[in-house]
Amino acid sequence: MLFEPARGLSGELRAPADKSISHRAALLGAMASEPVRIERYLQAADTNSTLQAVRALGALVEQRGEEVVVRGTGLREAREPEGPIDVGNAGTLLRLLPGWLAAQAGRSFTLDGDDSIRRRPVDRIAEPLRLMGAEIEPTGGRFAPLVVRGARLRAISCELEVASAQVKSCVLLAALAADGATTVGEPGRSRDHTERMLLRAGASIHRHGRHVTVVNADELLLDSVRVPGDASSAAFLVAAGVLVPGSRLLIADVGVNWTRSGFLRIVRRMQGIVLGDLEEETGELTGEEPVSDLDVAYGALEGTVVEPEEVPLAIDELPLVGLLGCFAEGETVVRGAQELRVKESDRIAGVVEGLRGLGADIEATSDGFAVRGNGGLRGGTLDARGDHRLAMMGAVAGLASKEGVEVQGMEVAAVSYPSFVEDLAALRS
Ligand code: S3P
Repeated sequence: MLFEPARGLSGELRAPADKSISHRAALLGAMASEPVRIERYLQAADTNSTLQAVRALGALVEQRGEEVVVRGTGLREAREPEGPIDVGNAGTLLRLLPGWLAAQAGRSFTLDGDDSIRRRPVDRIAEPLRLMGAEIEPTGGRFAPLVVRGARLRAISCELEVASAQVKSCVLLAALAADGATTVGEPGRSRDHTERMLLRAGASIHRHGRHVTVVNADELLLDSVRVPGDASSAAFLVAAGVLVPGSRLLIADVGVNWTRSGFLRIVRRMQGIVLGDLEEETGELTGEEPVSDLDVAYGALEGTVVEPEEVPLAIDELPLVGLLGCFAEGETVVRGAQELRVKESDRIAGVVEGLRGLGADIEATSDGFAVRGNGGLRGGTLDARGDHRLAMMGAVAGLASKEGVEVQGMEVAAVSYPSFVEDLAALRS
């Protein structure tokens, strides 16, 4: 699909609902004892996979437009499905669901997904779940298909090697049914939607710095969840507004939880114009998911350095930092982001090769990339490599380029943002 150069994007729109929070709302809904009403559930391929998965496990799911009601089975009563659970392309489902399944004593589950899912490591969740007493068998020790045999779990204390919200959340979900208090430590702060939602669901959960402790529970009770706009999807619109000369956009109702707004802080540091009320870190665990409208305008950018501790707070937006770097004055460097190699595609290779093909002066490093702004991008062809975020980065690059960008495989945007192409088109007129 061709994205031609644009001048002056304008208008107001709402980013799609948050993918991470939608996954969690459906999973906690399935684990809860009373029905959970989810307002503005994301309707996209990844989050549809989660609804299918919880149905297969015995939850009843009613969908009326953007509202979803999940009637769960309770914490320890997931049903053993007939065949494998298909997680599609959803890495978050692949990593979070085994946490719940590990606690289903005497029952066995197989998780599988598409070709990209079969390349995403699951040994990182297998290790702590085994310590808790479950039997976990990934293919070749590392990948899906993955068999989970549930057991009575024991509480553990563990230190994760990577700052990963998916791995942390998996352990926290398992801990709800373990016999005591489980503590998870992470090397850097990652998104905390699971902790916030568990607090709202009545779990005994505490944060102390980089550690979270959760005590086993009899049940979860979560009346309703309102899903905010997705900061990661909104980031593509923000990048378009900042890069296309003459633009002025209003993006309504975006989640601004501080563990998700790293990209917005990076854009501001690059002198990009993004007005909005971002949450500040307080050190306290809250059950809220704050939202803000974002007012974005075109302006000149300066290069910046993204250091390792900032990486988990902007992990899915780092391809866009590379794109902004092509238009900024000076050098933009991302460090400590080796996790990008195991996302929906190898995103270091995808960003570097993709942007270089459009005229960027960019190099891969072992743990990130470095780009020197050289007056913007010429344009050309970019292969999405089956990765929704690379496809959307290519589209935004096209709008800001001199000659336009042909994105091969644009349809993969439906994984997280099905109306992306229409939304961009609406901003042009
Ligand atoms: C997610 C966590 C991140 C992120 C992914 C969604 C989540 O992955 O990249 O898109 O919902 O917990 P990691 O936890 O592996 O960093």
